[in-house]
Amino acid sequence: MVNHYNAAAHDPVVAIYPGSFDPITNGHLDLISRGAKLVDRLIVAVLRNSSKAPLFTVAERLEMLRGATGGFCNVEVDSFDGLLVDYAARRNARAILRGIRAISDYEHELQMTLMNRRLRPETDTIFLIAGEAFSFVSSHLVKEVFALGGDISGLVPKAVEERLKEKQLLKEKG
Ligand SMILES: Nc1ncnc2c1ncn2[C@@H]1O[C@H](COP(=O)(O)OP(=O)(O)OP(=O)(O)O)[C@@H](O)[C@H]1O
Ligand SMILES: [Mg+2]
Repeated sequence: MVNHYNAAAHDPVVAIYPGSFDPITNGHLDLISRGAKLVDRLIVAVLRNSSKAPLFTVAERLEMLRGATGGFCNVEVDSFDGLLVDYAARRNARAILRGIRAISDYEHELQMTLMNRRLRPETDTIFLIAGEAFSFVSSHLVKEVFALGGDISGLVPKAVEERLKEKQLLKEKG
């Protein structure tokens, strides 16, 4: 089958980068900056109904994401409930963006991708390999190291580090 693709006349390519972003890390930011160059519009979307017990509320996560991505003109921050593919359909998104850090990410991502493809074949998933400097960075590890007094500078945006400190102080008081 010949696919007569006309790059000049295509509809804007919208992609969704879904996650819990609890909180955003510099690894996420690296993926966002690289992903934003590949598509016309990138929507970074916080999953509201996650099975993970979050440290930050959805509102706090959105605020940190907005602060960190304000410099990208084609990046939007949003949140969603329910199935990712339904949200993708509502937002006219053709692609889902995900990151792969190691083989351990691959298995889980493969399952989700195949399920999403089954549910909505029109939306395909794009994978970017993590930047070398961030391939060991995850939100949960950052939180764990921070809670134990380790240095997390350079792993999250400065504003996120401040928010983690505030959370810690509230916890110590409370
Ligand atoms: N450092 C990173 N580099 C590249 N991709 C990443 C990085 N961290 C997360 N991702 C990708 O971003 C997406 C959203 O991930 P998620 O919100 O689960 O972040 P996380 O850091 O893995 O958080 P958690 O530790 O809570 O699972 C996933 O596709 C994940 O593989
Ligand atoms: Mg994760």
